[in-house]
Amino acid sequence: MQHEGRELLLQVKDLEVRFGTKRHPFIAVQHVNFDIYKGETFGLVGESGSGKTTIGRAIIRINPTSAGDIIFKGEKINGPISKELDRRVTQQIQMIFQDPMASLNERAKVDYIVSEGLINVAKDMPRPQREKSVAQALADVGLLPEFASRFPHEFSGGQRQRIGIARSLIMEPEFIIADEPISALDVSIRAQVLNLLSHLQRKKGLTYLFIAHDLSVMRFICDRIAVIHKGQIVEMSETEKLFANPLHPYTQALLSAIPLPDPLLERNKKLIIYDPACHDYAVDKPRWQEIEPGHFVLANEQEMEGHREQLATSCRISS
Ligand SMILES: Nc1ncnc2c1ncn2[C@@H]1O[C@H](COP(=O)(O)OP(=O)(O)OP(=O)(O)O)[C@@H](O)[C@H]1O
Ligand SMILES: [Mg+2]
Repeated sequence: MQHEGRELLLQVKDLEVRFGTKRHPFIAVQHVNFDIYKGETFGLVGESGSGKTTIGRAIIRINPTSAGDIIFKGEKINGPISKELDRRVTQQIQMIFQDPMASLNERAKVDYIVSEGLINVAKDMPRPQREKSVAQALADVGLLPEFASRFPHEFSGGQRQRIGIARSLIMEPEFIIADEPISALDVSIRAQVLNLLSHLQRKKGLTYLFIAHDLSVMRFICDRIAVIHKGQIVEMSETEKLFANPLHPYTQALLSAIPLPDPLLERNKKLIIYDPACHDYAVDKPRWQEIEPGHFVLANEQEMEGHREQLATSCRISS
């Protein structure tokens, strides 16, 4: 295994999340399996409504799970857990949200917004200590300490996302779920926020689950990527292997949607549209299979044969 010797931080095993009623359930995600190692950035990519946020919210215990296990540092954290473990999970796993315009409480000052989580877990923390923590969290994300007394509407989108990041950092988490943290931002400031996230990762030894709906930025920041379609993961691999040999037709479609820097190539590019009817799963059922070390794909036996051929050809070409 390529991850030998690395510390497992999070394991998601056969996860299922349902909404709706018992009579009319809606299965938002099912058979979801992945591991996240300490210090890595693990990407989860898929189109709108595929279940990415649902998985993130299941990990932070907002969404109840209907099957499967979520194991954080060796302990099961879904379902009923002790108060003490719940407190630890609340502190150690944080989530950054997509829309910094909607996710901050407009009526509260930055000081309160940033320290709200801290107040919940450390109720008796003396005020000066809390203020110091807020100032430190703001400094960590490149904001001035005097911003603490201002309201969210006084800030730009990029600054507001920094406030959102400060709110998670103040908890001193080990693991951060960044749910489309740059999608709502102007293109010009996306890189700044990404650079900030990767700087913080190095400085504080953070582990990220990075959620996005397209693959374009993921190549630069993710160590491994899982591709999700309609609530099921269809492919998972180290980033470079996934870009070199996308096997599932849905992954190929996502890759073809990445804009190319060369305008001529971009104009002549062929967009691949994914059609789920391309699979013949009536008899030969798909399974989640490891096709090369660390590279998993949802495929049936006939598809696996084709995938093996593709990998063998690409191996011959590159050697
Ligand atoms: N609380 C809920 N109650 C009922 N259905 C829900 C709930 N939360 C999510 N869903 C449904 O579950 C599916 C997955 O939603 P989810 O928000 O996880 O998608 P997503 O991949 O994060 O999409 P996006 O890229 O738009 O954020 C959708 O069909 C959504 O409507
Ligand atoms: Mg979402």
